[in-house]
Amino acid sequence: MEAHPPFSILARVYDRLMEDVPYEGWAEFVLAVLAGVGWLPRDLLELGVGTGNALLPFLRRGLEAVGVDSSEQMLRLARSKLPQVELLQADFREYRLQRRFDLVYSAFDSLNNLTEPAYLAAAFANALAHLRPGGWLAADLNTPEGLRELWREEVWEEDGVRLVYGYDPATRLGRLEAWVGEQVEVHLERGYTPQETRLLLESSGFESVFCLTYPHGGEPHELSDRFWVFARAPHHPQPAGA
Ligand SMILES: C[S@@+](CC[C@H](N)C(=O)[O-])C[C@H]1O[C@@H](n2cnc3c(N)ncnc32)[C@H](O)[C@@H]1O
Repeated sequence: MEAHPPFSILARVYDRLMEDVPYEGWAEFVLAVLAGVGWLPRDLLELGVGTGNALLPFLRRGLEAVGVDSSEQMLRLARSKLPQVELLQADFREYRLQRRFDLVYSAFDSLNNLTEPAYLAAAFANALAHLRPGGWLAADLNTPEGLRELWREEVWEEDGVRLVYGYDPATRLGRLEAWVGEQVEVHLERGYTPQETRLLLESSGFESVFCLTYPHGGEPHELSDRFWVFARAPHHPQPAGA
């Protein structure tokens, strides 16, 4: 049977599966960390906006938002929920907006869908090109340890949805078969360590990179399954080619 693209058929049941996700807590955490470094964003760009859930807490706090996502089906749901928000169908590495933001935000390991470090670096470079000088990127990522633990060979099934997980430590790729009824789509995620994420951000031109765990804000350690990374755009961007 032919697999559908990621986040196409799953879109139909996505919000039901995400009922317990701490979108509000994540937004509060990120805004508190940014306030701690003296940055109060007025607008944001979300990478991997999905059905729009992670943007809602920011909109409630009065921030203006734009969202990018590659999935037409996820965006269709986001459009019905967030008619006031500009939503663009594009890849993390390829969108081009004629404006910059105070914050580029990416939640729920959306960036782990980039399965090569070079793809993640390209997404970081594109994010930097959409930040105002001194603006911040905040993103959460799964570590290899997290995928090994959370995506280990396991099957979860409920109300016609069947999720079949697997993880290959050699490639650091987690594989998820998501069945909705008789239809299936396959997701791949690569685990990234805080250290390599920091290096990719620095080589993409970001400064002041640091990683924290949610919700207590400690530094991630070698068994941390997930972490948030924060990185600042330079106050004085380098001219192209410098
Ligand atoms: C786990 S969902 C997260 C959605 C939303 N942020 C949330 O927290 O509910 C990941 C989203 O990233 C999008 N995505 C994955 N890879 C992408 C890429 N390379 N470019 C753009 N969007 C991508 C998917 O379509 C999906 O909607």
